Amino acid sequence: MAHAGIFISFEGLDGCGKSTQIKKLAKVLRARGFSVTVTREPGGSAFGEKIRDLLLDSSAAGISANTELALMFAARAQHLHEIINPALAAGHIILCDRFTDSSEAYQGGGRRLGSSRVLALHHVLCNDLQPQLTILMDSDVGKCLERARRRNRLRLHKNGRADSDENRFEQESIEFFARVHSAYLRIAAREPERVALVDARGQAMDTHRKIVNLVENRLKLGSVKLQIVRRRAAR
Ligand code: TYD
Repeated sequence: MAHAGIFISFEGLDGCGKSTQIKKLAKVLRARGFSVTVTREPGGSAFGEKIRDLLLDSSAAGISANTELALMFAARAQHLHEIINPALAAGHIILCDRFTDSSEAYQGGGRRLGSSRVLALHHVLCNDLQPQLTILMDSDVGKCLERARRRNRLRLHKNGRADSDENRFEQESIEFFARVHSAYLRIAAREPERVALVDARGQAMDTHRKIVNLVENRLKLGSVKLQIVRRRAAR
């Protein structure tokens, strides 16, 4: 199916800085006059956000790996139906925080369900739709996890409510995240045309520059260079 829009997904370990980079890229693209839809998984649609709450809450510790995978795809099917497909048809640039590669890395790799089970569901439920470009933010496993856990402690402290935690995955072991990381690298090696590995170990602004260059080069967004939007320096 031909789409008018452009679908870009962001992938990486928890705490690798995806949301910061998505915000920065959205700003640059909007400044260039593109209509940009920023969305995330699990979630994105109203119903999908309910599934997200179920999936990420640490009280769901007893759910099986298959249940987890099925819920990720239930949320994704609704996300495609309600948000992604309409935005593509309307010619938007979609910046999606995680897509099926997350299921392959976390459930396929982390939970050891294997890639073929994940890709089979992707075929049946998502019609094999893949982003034109996937930005895989590569970083150190230990550092990412530390950052993600710190963020969750702060969030919990701020909200002061045990029901607002989103840390079920972040309670997993370092070995779990090492498997997720390896699975991500295998996906990047398998699909180099779609998946661009971006070293995200440096300063956020350096990573932002790399991402802007990538988007310009890979997606041929017109002849005018994207402007990097800088915060005005404080005097
Ligand atoms: P989120 O807070 O969005 O991620 P991040 O910490 O990177 O900001 O949490 C989403 C969690 O859900 C994250 O731990 C990865 C996990 N996940 C899967 O396990 N499978 C999936 O298919 C998706 C979309 C997410």
